[in-house]
Amino acid sequence: FLAQIGPDALLRMILRKSPGQRTGDDLEIIYDELLHIKALTHLSNTVKRELASVVIFESHAKAGTVLFNQGEEGTSWYIIQKGSVNVVIYGKGVVCTLHEGDDFGKLALVTDSPRAASIVLREDNCHFLRVDKEDFNRILRDVEANTVRLKEHEQAVLVLEKSPRASTLGSIKYTVISGTPEKILEHFLETMRMDVHHSEPDPAVDDFVLMHCVFMPNSQLCPLLMAHYHAASPPGSEQERLEYTLNSKRRVLILALRWANTHSYLLQEEPAAISFMEELYGSVSNDSRTLRALKDLVPDLEKVVKLHSEEAKSTKKTLIRQFSNGEERLQKKQPIRNQDDILLKVYCSDHTYTTIRIPVAATGREVISAVTDKLGTTDEHLLVHLSSGGEKQLLKLNDVSVFSTLNINGRLFACPREQLNGLTTLPDQEGPSAGSMSTFELMSSKDLAYQMTMFDWELFSCVHEHELLYHTFGRQSFRRTTANLDLFLRRFNQVQLWVVTEVCLCSQLSKRVQLLKKFIKIAAHCREFKNLNSFFAIIMGMSNPAVSRLSQTWEKLPTKFKKFYAEFESMMDPSRNHRSYRLTVTKLEAPIIPFMPLLLKDMTFTHEGNKTFIDNMVNFEKMRIIANTIRQVRHCRSQPFNPDICQPNKNQAEVRGYVRKLCVVDNQRALTQLSYRLEPRRT
Ligand code: CMP
Repeated sequence: FLAQIGPDALLRMILRKSPGQRTGDDLEIIYDELLHIKALTHLSNTVKRELASVVIFESHAKAGTVLFNQGEEGTSWYIIQKGSVNVVIYGKGVVCTLHEGDDFGKLALVTDSPRAASIVLREDNCHFLRVDKEDFNRILRDVEANTVRLKEHEQAVLVLEKSPRASTLGSIKYTVISGTPEKILEHFLETMRMDVHHSEPDPAVDDFVLMHCVFMPNSQLCPLLMAHYHAASPPGSEQERLEYTLNSKRRVLILALRWANTHSYLLQEEPAAISFMEELYGSVSNDSRTLRALKDLVPDLEKVVKLHSEEAKSTKKTLIRQFSNGEERLQKKQPIRNQDDILLKVYCSDHTYTTIRIPVAATGREVISAVTDKLGTTDEHLLVHLSSGGEKQLLKLNDVSVFSTLNINGRLFACPREQLNGLTTLPDQEGPSAGSMSTFELMSSKDLAYQMTMFDWELFSCVHEHELLYHTFGRQSFRRTTANLDLFLRRFNQVQLWVVTEVCLCSQLSKRVQLLKKFIKIAAHCREFKNLNSFFAIIMGMSNPAVSRLSQTWEKLPTKFKKFYAEFESMMDPSRNHRSYRLTVTKLEAPIIPFMPLLLKDMTFTHEGNKTFIDNMVNFEKMRIIANTIRQVRHCRSQPFNPDICQPNKNQAEVRGYVRKLCVVDNQRALTQLSYRLEPRRT
């Protein structure tokens, strides 16, 4: 009998036996078959032997048969032994065709999510090998390929990788490695965890919400979310369809709320984003009458919409004065927004100036045309950043909010090209010629540190998370200002230069020793306030060559202070990627003012070392690393800063005023010269 039937029929017969009834010979025959299946080539022979005892044969006679539907729970993994199937996604149709030797249905099993597509037979009489979920988990959960790749129309659209950390839920955790923007969105909508409140979202979704503007601007995201919200449910019983609709709408809403939260006031600057939220709110209010389970999300949505549409409608603009001249007050508690106006002083070669009023996000080109308009000239002008040392930097026409990146004593000039070489600095760019020690030596170090921290905290809280992205990826391409971040970074430089300036302008040796002591004390208090930004700025100021070379001064510093300084300096040790600083920070609890330049360096490093797109897919690993750094910043601000440590002294206002307008020399050459005048080189 056996000799009369062909090998295929024999195999099928064996495969139809229930696994418990397979003999040793049967298993050998199945194993032999498995050795030749493309979808299994990456698996070890031991695994194939195990599979031999559990694979089940399944065949279907008619083209058009649906093996399973998108949205259903996944119960098995399939290998095509003969024939072909179409992968169908609602709203997209057939996204790809799979043939003999291909496999499908793994995604739902490994990510514990519903079927991401329906599988429809493409021809009559197809044969499959099926592995059911329990067996799949037992045999393959640890050995299955580390990578899942999905294709649509012959193009890879999503790559997932098994995460090294086993999930606490017991299922294998897969993370997005790369994908097309649309598919990544689709994937997160399908797999996001729904058992947590949207204010503390699934971290994977958080990565997406933070980073999408790099690869999918709001103009693209909003319509897609809308489409997902209105997506038609797959065929099924009324109950099933209701459940599907409800579930997918909830997912869109939770993502949208999270998105609105992360954007915060930036939403108001995009009319399209506002109208998206309004439309969504309208739809949900309507739908929640029939889909009562949506009701609980309505108030949250309403709050967001009310807040932002009202803010956007009140076209109130804030007017900001240029904050590069010593005159700047920086008395701002509100973040600077793109649509705010700024009064900008632009100088001509003869040192006269014009004041123009332009939007914060204006480009170099717009600044120039505002200046030439005001001057009533049609001559072509260049926009120049002139530093106090006389260096000229031509500003790019397409750069935005150029004013916020000027040096402390840098000035903006506009002139025809032929005047460029003759540009000279303004006298006030040099900075002070006398120190201010007599003022601040009367203030207590703790009060100074406290007021500096209050100020830093104000600047730090105005920095929007997105500014870190714009800074890293180039603000021109987003056409968005990074003014709040620039101001915070500028403060770092200012504090650093303040230390150098004061020391170099102090001609009396004993006074200089007092100054060093004072700065060390202020630094120590800054550290107590967990203000690492100013702490580092002071220590870096003291380690500036113009200060560190003053050996006569350092010699006179009491040992106690030398020790403190040495300890502080060791925290700045850049070796092993600033390990010493990083260890210190991880031990601290929020609120913290971090050493911002280092965080930015981390992000720039990640950006420059990794492509944003790989084969037309977003390199999502890069997004995740950058999002992690942004979350560090978020952590630092997760608690409000309100120390009760400080007794209100009567001269607080004076101290406050002083630390907010530090006058400095920002020209290193000038500082070095001053330093040599204090303590000439020893011969
Ligand atoms: P699963 O989600 O379990 O069920 C549908 C299967 O279709 C899915 O696993 C993948 O194995 C397969 N598939 C192939 N291409 C795609 C695609 N582009 N998108 C989604 N699923 C796909």
